[in-house]
Amino acid sequence: MTRVFSGIKPTGSVQLGNFCGAIGRWVDGLPDAGSPAADQRDQVFCVVDLHAMTVDYEPETLTATTRQVASILLAAGIDPARCLLFVQSHVGGIHAECTWLLNCVAGFGELRRQTQFKDKADGSEHVSVGLFDYPVLMAADILLYDTDEVPVGDDQRQHVELARDLAERWNHRFGNTFVVPRATFPPAGARIMDLQTPTKKMSKSDDSPQGVVRVLDDPAVITKKIKSAVTDSDNDVRHDREAKPGVSNLLEIYAGVTGSSIDAAVTAFSASGYGNLKSGVAEAVVEYLAPFQQRSGELMADPGEIDRILRAGAELAAERANAVLQRTKRSAGLLLP
Ligand code: TYM
Repeated sequence: MTRVFSGIKPTGSVQLGNFCGAIGRWVDGLPDAGSPAADQRDQVFCVVDLHAMTVDYEPETLTATTRQVASILLAAGIDPARCLLFVQSHVGGIHAECTWLLNCVAGFGELRRQTQFKDKADGSEHVSVGLFDYPVLMAADILLYDTDEVPVGDDQRQHVELARDLAERWNHRFGNTFVVPRATFPPAGARIMDLQTPTKKMSKSDDSPQGVVRVLDDPAVITKKIKSAVTDSDNDVRHDREAKPGVSNLLEIYAGVTGSSIDAAVTAFSASGYGNLKSGVAEAVVEYLAPFQQRSGELMADPGEIDRILRAGAELAAERANAVLQRTKRSAGLLLP
């Protein structure tokens, strides 16, 4: 069975890009309920709250957002009977210790070259060491679960590449210890762009009220945002990210939420103008999110149940991660007690 690990940061309300690039595929890849594969819990998903602390944040907001993101994952179909769901800090000691071990083989230069670090550090008055070390903690997340595949959006490509490099370097230096993971990307929707600035990635932590579709937005609000998406001045529906970023983004969203190809999306709308394209995309997104939105309301009403699921997930995650941590420490020559 292929082992899968992926994570999401509780830094704002989950947006459509998170679903198209990652969460939708996490759910689609789950084994059937009751099957032996489901019992294995080989698919592991994590709300990475320690990563959320690497930039400015409010403590009360972090607590609430962590529970909210977990409930969104559950409502989306991350079923604890078929996979493992936990909060990173609940297994924080193990993840932090593994980060330290990996820090000792990670290079300063390769971390400084990470584009997400450069983007976030650029222009900030205070850049934390945590932000610099972010990709190593992410590598620890992945490597601690003997992960084969990491389903992510395009923006995480370089981070997963670093996790691969660190695993290979460790194995070379200390003998075969880590499974070397690979990132997987969706055929469409790997990088959903902001509706108002289609040259910029849609992001949950961005203050772009009209440009970001939040998955808990009311259907009328979603429709309005998509109908006001920035396009261009001709009326020709085709996919060309350079020349037509806004239209291409709408086509990607359509393909992402309907599971069709970009070519099929172009064919569906090529005879119509931008008005029809926008209505079609809005309808498809509302329809895609409707069952999820209903379940999410029900779940949110029972925070005790969410906490119970997370505690059980953390218990199993700790057991697995600890086995890999001990193997890693042994390989490095640390004297085990
Ligand atoms: P995060 O919280 O930014 O995003 C969660 C997932 O959503 C994807 N995503 C997108 N996909 C398409 N279009 C977009 N506009 C878009 N925005 C976000 C992301 O690529 C991601 O897959 N560093 C990670 C969290 C993390 C992690 C890990 C992921 C920590 N440890 C281990 C995988 C494995 C992050 O910040 O994701």
